[in-house]
Amino acid sequence: MTLADTIDAIKAEAENDLNQSSSAKEIEALKVKYLGKKGRVQGLMPLLKDSPSEQRASFGKLINDLKTALEEQLDFASNRLEREELNKRLACETLDVTLPGRRRFHGREHVILKMLDEAIEILSGMGFSVQYGPDIESDFYNFEALNFSKDHPARDMHDTFYIRPDLLLRTHTSNTQVRVMESCNPPIRMIAPGKCYRNEDVSARSHVLFHQIEGLYIDKDVTFSDLLATLEEFFTKLFGKNVEMRFRPSYFPFVEPGMEVDINCIVCSGKGCGVCKHTGWLEVAGAGMVHPNVMKSGGIDPEEYLGYAWGFGIERLAMLRYGITDIRYFLEDNLRFLQQF
Ligand code: PHE
Repeated sequence: MTLADTIDAIKAEAENDLNQSSSAKEIEALKVKYLGKKGRVQGLMPLLKDSPSEQRASFGKLINDLKTALEEQLDFASNRLEREELNKRLACETLDVTLPGRRRFHGREHVILKMLDEAIEILSGMGFSVQYGPDIESDFYNFEALNFSKDHPARDMHDTFYIRPDLLLRTHTSNTQVRVMESCNPPIRMIAPGKCYRNEDVSARSHVLFHQIEGLYIDKDVTFSDLLATLEEFFTKLFGKNVEMRFRPSYFPFVEPGMEVDINCIVCSGKGCGVCKHTGWLEVAGAGMVHPNVMKSGGIDPEEYLGYAWGFGIERLAMLRYGITDIRYFLEDNLRFLQQF
């Protein structure tokens, strides 16, 4: 067989191989088979060396032409197959830009937490540090230390969930008062936000679970007017400029004197509406000067120190802020209600 015949045979074989290849990977293998170091074209070199010298130049050209031709064919085939494979892949990856997007569910802060955070922020700015007391509390910190003796009639005002006779769900955030007095020396200026529980009938105005922020300030010369000024500053910051306040004497065993704080109804500006039961006023807090017996429970000398305390209901503040007339909404999972805030 002459070199020319061999070249023709290689060409035919390559054509056949190409016809049978259907993937870019197979073409790569053919590149190795024909053009590689130990490939067919390279295999012709010994023949070239052995050929008569006058034919060598023309044989060399034949081999070169073969090499170029094969390179072109193989490149062309691999490009075509790569394109085909890409098209195939794209065909099954088509993106339907008309499909509606997938909506992510965005959670958001509950309106009560928002209100609580806002109040905490205002009070921290006024110099109160934040303390936390336990929800499950002893009778001692919730009642006894706060000047409610075991048979004190004021206990009846707190419908209490008892876990054991001496263990209960705290009925107010005032349980933090003596705890903080025990662990800190005056001056004490703290707030204690948190959940409270009362075994009451659920209605539009009261619930078994609600939130309060307790405030406590103990120092050498704390006065009742400090208390009034602090409350006024707080409510003005929380509700805006035109908050009017009024104070009604009231009784809590742990303060003396004690009072209830009302603000001018911010829903109707005092004209009278459903929210304020047509009185023009809304009760927002209980407050007073810390009772000497409570100071003693906390190991603080009432001869040396004076203090004030308050408790706000957060649900009440949120109801006022947003004109909500039923406290039950806060604990229901009605998204149409919750998403408004
Ligand atoms: N703890 C009282 C209540 O829940 C509120 C209060 C706190 C009153 C502090 C006076 C002083 O009703």
